[in-house]
Amino acid sequence: MTRRRAAILISGGGSNMVALVRDMADPAHPATPCLVISNRPDAAGLARAADLGVPTAVVDHRAHADDRPRFEAAILDRLAASGAEILCLAGFMRILTPGFVEHWRGRILNIHPSILPLFPGLDTHARALAAGMAVHGATVHEVTPDLDSGPILGQAVIPVLPGDTPETLAARLLPMEHRLYPAVLRRFAAGDRRKVALFP
Ligand code: GAR
Repeated sequence: MTRRRAAILISGGGSNMVALVRDMADPAHPATPCLVISNRPDAAGLARAADLGVPTAVVDHRAHADDRPRFEAAILDRLAASGAEILCLAGFMRILTPGFVEHWRGRILNIHPSILPLFPGLDTHARALAAGMAVHGATVHEVTPDLDSGPILGQAVIPVLPGDTPETLAARLLPMEHRLYPAVLRRFAAGDRRKVALFP
């Protein structure tokens, strides 16, 4: 079996990246991690990736201020050099231009902390609480030029409990994200488009 090379883009702690990399440690996994890129040099996930034996790179968006095409060209160069065939956004907090996304169309995934199409964008946990939701969740979807609205590949849901705050909701959702994203990547990398649905 030829394993497909997967690169992961992060901005912060990288816990979803770690979940993906750990799952790909299985030799029967249809993908293998080839590179972790962070747009922030201080992202804690960089050290976690290195500890897991995955090559890392920093492409600092601040070094390319006001020049998004140059920032993205630097990322594309790193990805090409790594031989990446699949790109996973995992807590990557920069919006990618349509040109970048088109280049990767059909090969780029994202995890978003809401039950899309509800609550695209930021502050999803607070917005789910403010809307009076009884359930909350996370979605893995294909990335298209429109923010957080590409084809849904999998979702995980959790109940909203009395007294929940954005912080408690986020903390309870994260372990579900860590189950969801690897489950979706396994299917996606094998060409299996069946949706993943996870419940607590
Ligand atoms: C995760 O909750 C992820 O769903 C969210 O950021 C967190 C990253 O955590 N992503 C977004 O908000 C994307 N817009 P991690 O760095 O520990 O994986």
